[in-house]
Amino acid sequence: MCGIVGYLGEKDPKEVIYKGLKTLEYRGYDSAGMAILDGEHFRRVRAQGKLNNLWAKIEKDSFSGSVGIGHTRWATHGIPNEANAHPHAVETVTIVHNGIIENYQELKAELAKTGSKFSSDTDSELVAHLIYNQMQSGQGLLEAVFEVIPRLIGAYSILAVSEDSPDEVVAFKNGPPLLVGMGENEMVVASDIQAIVPYTQTVFYLEDNEVAHIKQDSVKFMDTAGVAVKKVPEEVEWNQEQVEKGGYPYFMLKEIYEQPRAVAQAIEPHIDLKNKSVRLAGVGFGIDKYEDLSKLDRDADWQKTLSAFSQVERIFIVACGTSYYAGMVGEYLIERITGIPVEVDVASEFRYRHPVIPKNSLMIVVSQSGETADTLAALRNVKKSGAMTLSICNVSRSSIDREADGHLYMNAGVEVGVASTKAFVSTLALFNLLALSFGKAKGCLETATEQQWIEDLLGAPAQMEKVLAYDKYFDEAGNDLKEYKGFLYMGRGVNYPIALEGALKLKELAYMHAEGYAAGEMKHGPLALIDNKMAVVMMCPQDELYEKTFSNLEEARARGGMVISIGSGVDEKLKNMSEHYLSLPESRWYVNPLLEVIPLQLLAYHVAHRLGHDVDQPRNLAKSVTVE
Ligand code: F6R
Repeated sequence: MCGIVGYLGEKDPKEVIYKGLKTLEYRGYDSAGMAILDGEHFRRVRAQGKLNNLWAKIEKDSFSGSVGIGHTRWATHGIPNEANAHPHAVETVTIVHNGIIENYQELKAELAKTGSKFSSDTDSELVAHLIYNQMQSGQGLLEAVFEVIPRLIGAYSILAVSEDSPDEVVAFKNGPPLLVGMGENEMVVASDIQAIVPYTQTVFYLEDNEVAHIKQDSVKFMDTAGVAVKKVPEEVEWNQEQVEKGGYPYFMLKEIYEQPRAVAQAIEPHIDLKNKSVRLAGVGFGIDKYEDLSKLDRDADWQKTLSAFSQVERIFIVACGTSYYAGMVGEYLIERITGIPVEVDVASEFRYRHPVIPKNSLMIVVSQSGETADTLAALRNVKKSGAMTLSICNVSRSSIDREADGHLYMNAGVEVGVASTKAFVSTLALFNLLALSFGKAKGCLETATEQQWIEDLLGAPAQMEKVLAYDKYFDEAGNDLKEYKGFLYMGRGVNYPIALEGALKLKELAYMHAEGYAAGEMKHGPLALIDNKMAVVMMCPQDELYEKTFSNLEEARARGGMVISIGSGVDEKLKNMSEHYLSLPESRWYVNPLLEVIPLQLLAYHVAHRLGHDVDQPRNLAKSVTVE
């Protein structure tokens, strides 16, 4: 989720790149940097943190050249410090990169053997080394890039410059977007359209495995074998609303793409990185819950939370819609780690069914908006019974956030699309941390388990990025899906609520009939629905229930259903059983839901988009349901 801008032209590259990066800052703001030609060299300036920090360093500087590249980073490999900030330079070669080089460990080992020295922990720096080494054999920048591309496995978009040919930029990509804007004797190349449109509306979209050789007054496109590709520029129309959408056609799509960061932001305040352990911050039992986290006595606060959690003998999770499905995942997580009995309810039922709330119960209410009327009413009812309450909200100081005894924030950032996406994954991440916290409070969590869990959670955003990079496969599957009369989404265990969420997304966005089912329930009724007009979307990751889920898939297949399966890694068996097999990175069972939901959201998005629906504002729905 990094942002990239490059410029060749008569304007000040520093200004153009800075303004461009500013519009892309939502993509990442761990660090930023630029490299601009100054005399014979590319002068590189980088800063940790937001773009303002970089600007403070270069605002007064002037650069003599007319070419530069810049980057705003969202860390995947290597912590967000200045050394890991882009651009990365190796002698005369400088690059910026968005994406993940999956075979970086292999490449790094190989480069180390031949004496390369690394100045960062990133996968990106390797690309600069590879290009530089190639150029040592007398090749130009473009030729070197052609040699390096076949060596890279993963998703990437890259800009490269060299002091040996300082008047050119080479851009290439596989996965994340890259566009070249062609102005009057100037070129702007960027990861997003909004960095380009202030200068020109004539734009070329690079396809995967294409290379652009860019000079101030010309651009040539080639495939990775160097064969010229004829491209026709597009004239883009642009308005303020599109700027706010960050170049995405819909807020929802933007929010889907923001999910890796949403997860990182949700867990960041609550993790002790040094010890790889959970330490919830600012839950607020027994202290003012709005205390500024930076002023908080973290240890005292955490001890209070642990002491409150240690009393808990029963948990009720109450929410609506997508938040309710997140709560169901919470149930699986908490019960499995802690053995504390958990009940999950939709708020509209819970509030009227006179639930029995035993002593030492904790109610967890989940609400993105913090204003959902049924959830708020359920919270108020339970508060009267004297039970302890904890909210998980995205909107700070919303009614539910204010009224619950303790709170956690999703920290997903503003969610505009009516269909909830990033708030869902943030909540799943928080339930992982809550489950670990209850485990600690009850003394039933082993340190090694906790450390592994935290490591996996910290790695989840990068895995989510990988899933997003393969959106085009979800789009293809979406194209077939729109012809079907009905949909059954199925899964087992922790994947079952994800099936429910996938079906909800399709219903609300595409207005198509979709049901979520526990896969084991299929033979108790829904199997009768299956024929060749029915699509079956099966969550089938490699977990302990894999074989059982696979049998359910065979049953559906035998009745003629069109199968879309979502599994982990290379799974030929599953692939052979499916019209579309959507492969996710291999991960542990508690991380799987964070990955699985992305293809389901994108499937629903693509079907709805192809049907011409307003994805951000589906008919009959509203973002915050403040009425019963
Ligand atoms: C579905 C969706 C809704 C909400 C539900 C609860 O995409 O957005 O189902 O999840 O209305 O809303 P909150 O979380 O604001 O209480």
